[in-house]
Amino acid sequence: MDSFNYKNGSLFCESVNVDKLVDQVGSPAYIYSAETFRNHYTALRDAFAEVDPIICYSIKSCGNLHIIKLLDSLGCGMDTVSGGEVFRAKQAGADMSKIVYAGVGKTDAEITLGINEGIGWFNIESEEEFENIARIAETLGKQAHGALRVNPDIYDPKTHVKTNTGKKETKFGVDIERAKQFFRSYGKNQHCRLDAIHLHIGSPIYSPDPYVMAIEKALVLIDELRAEGFEVNTLDIGGGYAADYETGKSPSYKTYADAIVPLIKGKDLKIIIEPGRTISGNSGILVGDVQYIKQGGNKKFAILNTGMHHLLRPAMYEAFHFVWPTAVAPEHMVTARTDNMDLPNLEKFDVVGPICESSDTIAKERMIPAVKRGDRIAIFTAGAYGMVMASNYNAMPRPVEVLVDGTDATIIRKRETYNDVVALERDTEQVLL
Ligand code: LLP
Repeated sequence: MDSFNYKNGSLFCESVNVDKLVDQVGSPAYIYSAETFRNHYTALRDAFAEVDPIICYSIKSCGNLHIIKLLDSLGCGMDTVSGGEVFRAKQAGADMSKIVYAGVGKTDAEITLGINEGIGWFNIESEEEFENIARIAETLGKQAHGALRVNPDIYDPKTHVKTNTGKKETKFGVDIERAKQFFRSYGKNQHCRLDAIHLHIGSPIYSPDPYVMAIEKALVLIDELRAEGFEVNTLDIGGGYAADYETGKSPSYKTYADAIVPLIKGKDLKIIIEPGRTISGNSGILVGDVQYIKQGGNKKFAILNTGMHHLLRPAMYEAFHFVWPTAVAPEHMVTARTDNMDLPNLEKFDVVGPICESSDTIAKERMIPAVKRGDRIAIFTAGAYGMVMASNYNAMPRPVEVLVDGTDATIIRKRETYNDVVALERDTEQVLL
């Protein structure tokens, strides 16, 4: 699962004692395990080995330069969604030819950046976008490379309504019925080579079935396009593979692969996969300190120095994140992480943050070992969509990020200061109109 384990009553990240680390770097802190990143990447690659996919890690899930470097060094490509992420990948020294770039609103500047940096594929989401990419490529005297993102309009893949992207009424991709017309219009364009199909149906998806349905539809389309004389040599099947938020709930890589690989092998297609959270989710925790304990009605609140400004997922999606103290009694050295831990001497807490909103709740009515002011709590599976969605709401600085590798720990992003938070508001300029 991951490399966060309890030993002698203390939480360890690989060989590093989390409390000792936080004593040094301060709290709150995002702590990542390099070993977990590596293990997830290689396990996913091995599960899909039969189709030898290009794995493009979704930078949006956890995009620190050092994480990109780590994965690039293993041969991993990158999935990007903005000029900022293309820039990030470049800064980290990533292999630009293994970059896919999706996004419904790519600006001229972003497209120009992508073409100039020689990214692998633009995953193109509309007719107007295609025309714009082709126009910009022509102006630059270069050829862009595109995949058509089709919206397969499959049934609700049972993910949260805010993260479902595979239904027609979402803004993503081009309706699959329009895909043939799209190729007829643009399939022979010289400025943007169009020879690939892209799918991404949402996330997280806890079953292989929606992938199977979407891929089956895409394969029919590819056959039809080929029959019309278009070259289609690549199928990007997107991301959305679950992270292990709650022990035992997410399918193994083998389960996904066993269902997906037979469909796509032997089809003369290069396969791309865009996993984000399944690689980064369990690779990170967010650690905060208990500031105060207080009673409210019949509830007991543990109030942390971190909350929705640092980890938005519970407030935004009612997402489950396992929370547990970093120092525990022997009977609480958990190996599983679920909502109802069947252990002695637990107490019910609402674990909340300091932000001025009721939605600033990390865990509601959760049975955990009793905590008191000054104790530390780890929020697990916070590596994906954690720091990248953190904000300065309430003028709160963002946490430090630390990468552990074996016995080593490196600060990979400094803790923000109050000065950092106001920096861009200083030395303001009058606009001349
Ligand atoms: N590919 C595309 C085109 C995507 O839009 C996404 C995620 C991924 C790949 C990677 O999905 P993953 O494997 O990480 O599930 N903030 C939300 C998730 C939004 C996902 C957006 N797109 C959350 O915290 O759950």
